[in-house]
Amino acid sequence: MDKLLIEGGTRLAGEIAISGAKNAALPILCAALLTKEPVTFTNVPRLNDIGTLLRLLEQMGVKVERDGDRVTLDAGGVANPVAPYELVKTMRASILVLGPLVARFGSAKVSLPGGCAIGARPVDQHIKGLQAMGATVKVEHGYVNAECPRLKGARLFTDMVTVTGTENLMMAACLADGETVIENAAREPEVVDLANCLVAMGARISGAGGDVIRIQGVKELHGATHRVMPDRIETGTYLCAAAVTGGEVRLTNTSSSYLDAVIDKLMDAGCEVFSERDAIRLKAPARLQAVSLRTAPYPAFPTDMQAQFMALNAVAEGTAVIRETIFENRFMHAVELQRLGADIRIDGNTAFVKGVAGLQGATVMATDLRASASLVIAGLVAEGSTIIERIYHLDRGYENLEAKLAALGARVERLK
Ligand code: UD1
Repeated sequence: MDKLLIEGGTRLAGEIAISGAKNAALPILCAALLTKEPVTFTNVPRLNDIGTLLRLLEQMGVKVERDGDRVTLDAGGVANPVAPYELVKTMRASILVLGPLVARFGSAKVSLPGGCAIGARPVDQHIKGLQAMGATVKVEHGYVNAECPRLKGARLFTDMVTVTGTENLMMAACLADGETVIENAAREPEVVDLANCLVAMGARISGAGGDVIRIQGVKELHGATHRVMPDRIETGTYLCAAAVTGGEVRLTNTSSSYLDAVIDKLMDAGCEVFSERDAIRLKAPARLQAVSLRTAPYPAFPTDMQAQFMALNAVAEGTAVIRETIFENRFMHAVELQRLGADIRIDGNTAFVKGVAGLQGATVMATDLRASASLVIAGLVAEGSTIIERIYHLDRGYENLEAKLAALGARVERLK
């Protein structure tokens, strides 16, 4: 298994380009299932999660053509609307094929994703929504079996704000008979990007980005071309990495417009942040100030940036209180950060992080995608060598991580 070796203590400086958003690309690629015509996507990041999803689509009969960041999918010949456990278990987002499959083929068999390191993460809201649209859904032998010759538009209300739940139901509603209204919808920019792609394919959607989305079902969708939005979490991660090293970086092919909550906190920590049209520049102070935060659905502070800010606070001046409200078990990075010398106390869903003058390199273990990113950030500022084990988590969500860090002057090496 690959490891990452980081020699800490270098100030990050320079310019790198941000990749397309993993969490936008995943639902958008699934949207290709809704039409028999080819759909082309650009700015698709080269990540393990994207590879997993493409394999899943391929084994259903989707023709996949991939050339760099361009992917063309042709779901004209789908013969097997089944998502098997072997592929779904490695990536929860595979559940995003459920809505499109039932909507277009009248039936779907998708493995239950099961638990994951950061919490239970059930899919009951996805199922409840499809049932409200007329589908018969049975959960048997670890699979969700859904059937409905044609879904019917309905008024849907999710018990909590769910990103992939909103996306799954929005895709299903595109081919339903009549109007669907999703209330308490997720407002994440990735939901808006998916809606834009669906509209380009002929869907009739209004309200995406707000908490009520209206979809007028149509008989069929057609081919289109869509460019995936920039990855706001990758952007935020590199901003944090630059901030902890007292660096100055410019990130291109991205935008500050999806990152208000994160940029606000970086400015509270003492960074100067300059927004350009398709770029962000950050200049960090010699020592950061601690910043408290609470995660919540967009536009509030994203749970996917919580771990990176824990690393940042570990070396800041003062004490930060971090409250995680989305996932019940998302502090696993805390014990690994402690191995590097961080002073962190966890009480339920709250972490108290007392900034220390410096961290020391050690061997640590990546436990999930964003937890791994926090260890990279800590390793960059720690004295001496940090070895991060199990970096396959990082490969799921960060394109060319070592090359991008190296371009900013970091000393990183992948150990095979
Ligand atoms: C998405 C993101 C993930 C991010 C998360 C929260 C993708 C591929 N992944 O995950 O990176 O961390 O949003 O911003 O976009 N819940 C239920 N029942 C359901 C659905 C969700 O109880 O049917 C709960 C979850 O356990 C969690 C909360 O709702 O506590 C929010 O989860 P959700 O927004 O659905 O996360 P994902 O869409 O899986």
